[in-house]
Amino acid sequence: MPTVLSGKSIVFGVCGSIAAYKAVDLASKLVQLGARVDVIMTDRATSFVGPISFQGITHRPVVTDLFAPTSELSMDHVALARRADAVLIAPASANTIAKLAHGLCDDALGATVLATAAPVVLAPAGDANMFSNPVTVANLQLLRERGFIIVGPASGRLASGQIGLGRLESAEEILGRLRALLGRAGDLAGMKVVISAGGTREPLDPVRFLGNRSSGKMGYAVAEAARDRGATVALISAPTGLQPPAGVRLLPVQTALEMHDVVLEEASDADLLVMSAAVADFRPEAPAAEKIKRAGKDRLDLSLVRNPDVIAAAKGQRLVKIAFAVETSNLLENARAKLDAKKVALVVANDVTRPGVGFEHDTNQVTLIDVSGKAEDLPMMDKFEVAQRVLDRAVMMLAARRA
Ligand SMILES: Cc1cc2nc3c(=O)[nH]c(=O)nc-3n(C[C@H](O)[C@H](O)[C@H](O)COP(=O)(O)O)c2cc1C
Repeated sequence: MPTVLSGKSIVFGVCGSIAAYKAVDLASKLVQLGARVDVIMTDRATSFVGPISFQGITHRPVVTDLFAPTSELSMDHVALARRADAVLIAPASANTIAKLAHGLCDDALGATVLATAAPVVLAPAGDANMFSNPVTVANLQLLRERGFIIVGPASGRLASGQIGLGRLESAEEILGRLRALLGRAGDLAGMKVVISAGGTREPLDPVRFLGNRSSGKMGYAVAEAARDRGATVALISAPTGLQPPAGVRLLPVQTALEMHDVVLEEASDADLLVMSAAVADFRPEAPAAEKIKRAGKDRLDLSLVRNPDVIAAAKGQRLVKIAFAVETSNLLENARAKLDAKKVALVVANDVTRPGVGFEHDTNQVTLIDVSGKAEDLPMMDKFEVAQRVLDRAVMMLAARRA
């Protein structure tokens, strides 16, 4: 599956930190996302993990010494600096941060960073006191001012047993920021994209709600894909068990009414709205103020009232709207009716009664129906790939809007 990292050359610096073992997993994830990964280890990094681990994962030589006669860098010491689409340093030690802030280049990593024109993402890790020391704070600030992207450190339990700031950020956060950086010039650059995701919760009483089976996976995949293509992304999310993608603005909501208000506000100056949330059509008319007790009741009748139609109500001068439609029967007929009724440019319809389709799955099989009434059946694919195909259509519709 192509990603923004496919075919990209990533120079991956690893420093002497307990967190160096996590770099092996990061290298593996970079390779799985399609990147060509050249690892440079500082001399101290090799005290924590062996170069063979990185070599086995990246299938490329690992640079540990600028002067090793067998190293590519001993012949052309800035070869990796030239080749890099981005440099990632994770974990970045306080020592290396200090060296980079002052242009020291007495090892392969320093020389590469000093010579590269590529953007640098740096994920520090270390003892809380090292990172709260004004020297390290000032060094990181210097690097930030020069355009380095600093991810973390995160708070939590540190190797010393202390709780504090100093943990390496999660792989998802580091890779998300790297992907957003590489996607800056993508085909959605300069666009504001609003995405709704998850299933709304309509309260019955303070502890119960009417919900639905939406996991949010499809909407989160669209958010990730739009970010990777350079968009500024607002993700309006009903509760899910998912980690919000790095580099997107998360706007949490609970109910359909909240979803309605936030979507209308965010969509008003947006280029694209993708409604993939499962918004409840009805809500309990009068949620109980106290927990409903069963004592003395043989049955309980609920009275429901209609919720507003969010996508139909969303308006913006430049807005292109895409609606996901879950159907269990008459898929095409219902989807076409939605195109007219809600003034959307594309309906992404899925029949959730089929295996591997829709709620909770990592895969989806959808039909794209546009205003001309034409329907394109896509094969079963990963939700991220579905998201890319939907955004391919969005890019065409956005270009047509400008013409
Ligand atoms: C067990 C151990 C763990 C260490 N962990 C870290 C760390 O997480 N972050 C850090 O900045 N330094 C850490 N250090 C100190 C660095 O390894 C040391 O400053 C070294 O010179 C860094 O070299 P480098 O920047 O060339 O990799 C640790 C040292 C030891 C002995």
